[in-house]
Amino acid sequence: MSKLIELKGITKSFDGECVLNSINLYIRDGEFITLLGPSGCGKTTTLRIIGGFETADEGELYFDGHEISDVPPHKRQVNTVFQKYALFPHLNVYENIAFPLRMKKFSEEDIKTRVTDMLKMVALVGFENKSVSTLSGGQQQRVAIARALVSHPKVLLLDEPLGALDLKLRKDMQNELKTIQKAIGITFIYVTHDQEEALSMSDTVVVMADGEIQQIGTPTDIYNEPKNAFVADFIGESNIVDGIMLEDKRVRMSGHTFTCVDGGYAKNEPVDVVVRPEDVDVVKPEDGMLTGIVTNVTFKGVHYEIIVDIGGFKWMIQSTDYVAPDEKIGLFIEPDAIHIMKKSKYSGMFGDYSSFSDEIDQLSDADTAEEF
Ligand SMILES: Nc1ncnc2c1ncn2[C@@H]1O[C@H](COP(=O)(O)OP(=O)(O)OP(=O)(O)O)[C@@H](O)[C@H]1O
Ligand SMILES: [Mg+2]
Repeated sequence: MSKLIELKGITKSFDGECVLNSINLYIRDGEFITLLGPSGCGKTTTLRIIGGFETADEGELYFDGHEISDVPPHKRQVNTVFQKYALFPHLNVYENIAFPLRMKKFSEEDIKTRVTDMLKMVALVGFENKSVSTLSGGQQQRVAIARALVSHPKVLLLDEPLGALDLKLRKDMQNELKTIQKAIGITFIYVTHDQEEALSMSDTVVVMADGEIQQIGTPTDIYNEPKNAFVADFIGESNIVDGIMLEDKRVRMSGHTFTCVDGGYAKNEPVDVVVRPEDVDVVKPEDGMLTGIVTNVTFKGVHYEIIVDIGGFKWMIQSTDYVAPDEKIGLFIEPDAIHIMKKSKYSGMFGDYSSFSDEIDQLSDADTAEEF
């Protein structure tokens, strides 16, 4: 796959506040790439710069090898699907999808062929004459996608396109979008703050925070080899512990020396160590590399989520074996379950589950509030 779009040193400020700080990124032809990060990190701004709705203060933007910063949006081979679908309420499904072709003065016959193809692709055959305002959220979303694809853009920009849908519909649409993208071999630049959505749909994930790219990689890279404490915390659950790299493949943390698989650090270099909850084995205290006291146990269906106090630092462990609160347990960690990261400005900000029980209470309150 060749580079289709390239951002070089893209920087943008609003009202003196830097919201994108020298973004360097390339997107390959046919790739499904996702910008993932918390609210306000600059995802939409990046997408708007690619789409031509916003101009960068500094940096270059290339499409197929040509600098396109001065090319207006409608002349870029890029279309956008927004979170709010912006359908035309007075037009039916057929005319909503046909709209971009009418603007481009396509013949009635070509319009019919293309719209019919699109209706098939998004499974809306038979809905041609329906008013869009009578459609469900998922159906409206499909019309928006069909309308964006009907003029055969090279790239589709999707800004949280499933954000307004409920969980079940969201999952269905995730699969449909992925299938459509594969079927027509188009490049998707997708924005979400939902890490599960990003990991399950993308070829490449770009993790952003504070207007900067933290890591670019495949979903497995991002999950298994997070670059810093921000990425480790944002993607999945992580115990992030202060460590000292004694030498290659030997790290000291929580008062024990562990064998690991990473190297290339200075002797006695302080590092962040990440251990995923599913990679810790619960053993008898005398067999443990570490020992701790269980403070909280929650049944999650497939496993128990166990919070363990190890010298004042609370670890999360996922285990299919039940342990009782207040029990003393041992922890066993295989070398390849220990992942070493360089210290960063995010060190010490994440990784301890001490506020975990409060968080659960707040989350379940919020869930209940939403349902009613
Ligand atoms: N037109 C604008 N004028 C002023 N500030 C802006 C403008 N557009 C974006 N911002 C600011 O830039 C920052 C990044 O915004 P952006 O919309 O790119 O974030 P995001 O990652 O898409 O967030 P979200 O997940 O909430 O959509 C925010 O602090 C936002 O308030
Ligand atoms: Mg946004």
